[in-house]
Amino acid sequence: MTELTIAIAKGRMQDEALRGLARAGVSVSQSALKSRRLAVEDESGAHRLIFVKPSDVPVYVEHGIADCGIVGRDVLLESGADLLQPLDLRIGYCRIAVAARAGQFQTATGALRVATKYPRIAAAHFGARGVPVEIIQLSGSVELAPVLGLADCIVDLVETGRTLAENGLEVLETITETSARLVVNRASYQLKAAAVSRLIRSLRGETETEGAG
Ligand code: PRP
Repeated sequence: MTELTIAIAKGRMQDEALRGLARAGVSVSQSALKSRRLAVEDESGAHRLIFVKPSDVPVYVEHGIADCGIVGRDVLLESGADLLQPLDLRIGYCRIAVAARAGQFQTATGALRVATKYPRIAAAHFGARGVPVEIIQLSGSVELAPVLGLADCIVDLVETGRTLAENGLEVLETITETSARLVVNRASYQLKAAAVSRLIRSLRGETETEGAG
């Protein structure tokens, strides 16, 4: 019987998350991974994994459709969902940064035009500094915005820095660091306490082994 449903953020850290889960005893067959199915059972049959867009992980977990989820801290900060976050999985390290065209950033006379996939994080960052901004919300390829004149700067995820460099941008300021987190629905944490703590323990063992090595 399926004990826990775990929502996995598709994309940049999906493979790393699956490897971490496998090492913690939650493994999915190659055929299931190769398929286009968006909900698969692990080999023990105790867990169901669902694959959703990163920003939808907090939605599924907050509504209790998924008991747990693996998603970046960036997404959690942006979502503001009410979830438990018992574990930093120590994978998918990135930073959220303000970036602009290299050597060309000038303080705007009016509101600073900021393009981003993270309107909440960007507004909070500039709001705390009293900088008036116009937030321009994009869904991806954010680095194009300052290059083509849509924005003065961007707030975006930087991992290797390659996308910035190859588009002639540079980091002006790091807002915060992010890595993958295990999130848990509040009710599941109580009602499925044994299964949730088993998962946390095995994932924690895994991150500690990694940290030590
Ligand atoms: C992210 C981010 C940057 C890039 C940073 O985009 O928005 O564009 O990765 O990685 P780098 O520093 O290693 O170059 P993502 O791949 O999530 O796609 P997106 O453009 O659709 O947001």
